[in-house]
Amino acid sequence: MDVYVKPGAIQAADADAIVVNLFEGVLQPRGATGALDQVLDCAIQDMIAAGELRGRLNETVIFHPRGAIPSRHVIVVGLGKPSALCLDSVRQAAAAAARAARKVGARTLASIAHGAGAGGLKVADAAQAVVEGTILGLYRYAAPRGNLDETALHSVESFTLIEFDQSRLPEVEAGARIGHIVAGAACMARDLDNQPSNVMTPTALADVAQAIAADFGMACEVMGAEQMGELKMGALLGVSRGASQPPRFIVLEHNPGVDAGAGPFVLVGKGITFDSGGISIKPSSGMEQMRGDMSGAAAALASMQAIGAIGLRGHVVALVPATENMPGGNAIHPGDVVTAMNGLSIEVVDTDAEGRLVLADALAYAQRYRPAFVVDIATLTGAIATALGHHMTGVYANEDALWSAIQTAGEAAGELMWRMPLDPVFDVQIETPFADVKNYGGSPGGSATGASFLAKFIGDHAWAHLDIGSTDWWEADQVYTKKPYFVRGCTGVGVGTLVGLLRAWEAGHLSRHR
Ligand code: BES
Ligand code: MN
Ligand code: ZN
Repeated sequence: MDVYVKPGAIQAADADAIVVNLFEGVLQPRGATGALDQVLDCAIQDMIAAGELRGRLNETVIFHPRGAIPSRHVIVVGLGKPSALCLDSVRQAAAAAARAARKVGARTLASIAHGAGAGGLKVADAAQAVVEGTILGLYRYAAPRGNLDETALHSVESFTLIEFDQSRLPEVEAGARIGHIVAGAACMARDLDNQPSNVMTPTALADVAQAIAADFGMACEVMGAEQMGELKMGALLGVSRGASQPPRFIVLEHNPGVDAGAGPFVLVGKGITFDSGGISIKPSSGMEQMRGDMSGAAAALASMQAIGAIGLRGHVVALVPATENMPGGNAIHPGDVVTAMNGLSIEVVDTDAEGRLVLADALAYAQRYRPAFVVDIATLTGAIATALGHHMTGVYANEDALWSAIQTAGEAAGELMWRMPLDPVFDVQIETPFADVKNYGGSPGGSATGASFLAKFIGDHAWAHLDIGSTDWWEADQVYTKKPYFVRGCTGVGVGTLVGLLRAWEAGHLSRHR
């Protein structure tokens, strides 16, 4: 989709549909909505008076202005109560409006930046959220279908943000640009993730990383099993043994040459392209969702694409250990002991706890950069859903400042983050007489013991672990938060937070303490 920013009044916009907003409780709209209402002979006020339009969050009302303005459709979207307004209300409202526009066949859409007027949000942030909601809300996975009905797939082709106040244009433009890039990257993550595991193999994932590198002048190194052996990545190799697809260890590096010795920011994404559980095989019901066990990798790679497009000045490295977890004849057995790159031996009591094994080697590898920060993102456990439902991502951090920056970035991105405990008390569950550590500590505190396991491989670096096992997938079921920018399948969670976090780091809001 093309995104534009233009000066002017929304009622003069030359688009198939235009979008304005209404706060709940407002009877006489002001600002852009009020100006439009004047031209429409108070049609909007009449609907409010009749109780047909209340301004509830994501409520949409659509009508034909019948020639009073150039546009064929007017969409009024609710922003909810002014006191509850946040960037995600804006993002959601934009998504609801965009879907309403698509439904009536609009190909060109124009909108104001919701929440930047009376709402009091920063103009650039509001513009970013509107563009993000529009793009994410219109996302459709292009499934391979033989009898593709082209007409059923029309969509909005161009989106224009209209700003009346000329002095705000630069900010609207800056925000729209970031929103376009971030939401585009999140859609890319959804695509990578939704693709079946017979397509999105470790090799295919490495090709994606190489394409990003080529597009943005990054360095990309892709290692196979032989190099993993040389590096002594026994844990990653152990997981890959049951699979016929060859494993890949992907290193994608954005280094614009301004790292003044402070060390890079390292992202690590779990890239299990299919998790059958291995010999500790999973039940067949729902196993198809395990094609999405590379959501962390998708988020890390998509974030790299975003920072490349943005032109982030910081030095950032993404590491993706990619493999299938399969129960082949050569597969690792429960009880086998492997040794990770940092020398720690691991008793693999459950081959289905494979994410922490591949991350163990990736976190150990991360240390060679003397990183300022390491953030891993992984569909590590189903247990995190028991703790937080599907509403929040669990975050484990060994540094308060890093946690706080993640929380702030997550909130702005509409990706709720909740801090979980990283504490030595959990270690007792992963002690074993047969190795330095075992890879599973039982069901109590299942997500926290996973984090405690990972902590053994990161050394003393500032580090956070995002367990997205419960937030990377969405469907229209009551246990999921309803948001008009989600569709069934992978959510692309993490991209908004990670890009926001890296931008905060670039701006100096997060700096190295150790
Ligand atoms: N990839 C799964 C975690 C997962 C499950 C994510 C469901 C999203 C939805 C992970 O590798 C896993 O299998 N974890 C197990 C560990 C345990 C059984 C050893 C879990 O948390 O259930
Ligand atoms: Mn597993
Ligand atoms: Zn897994």
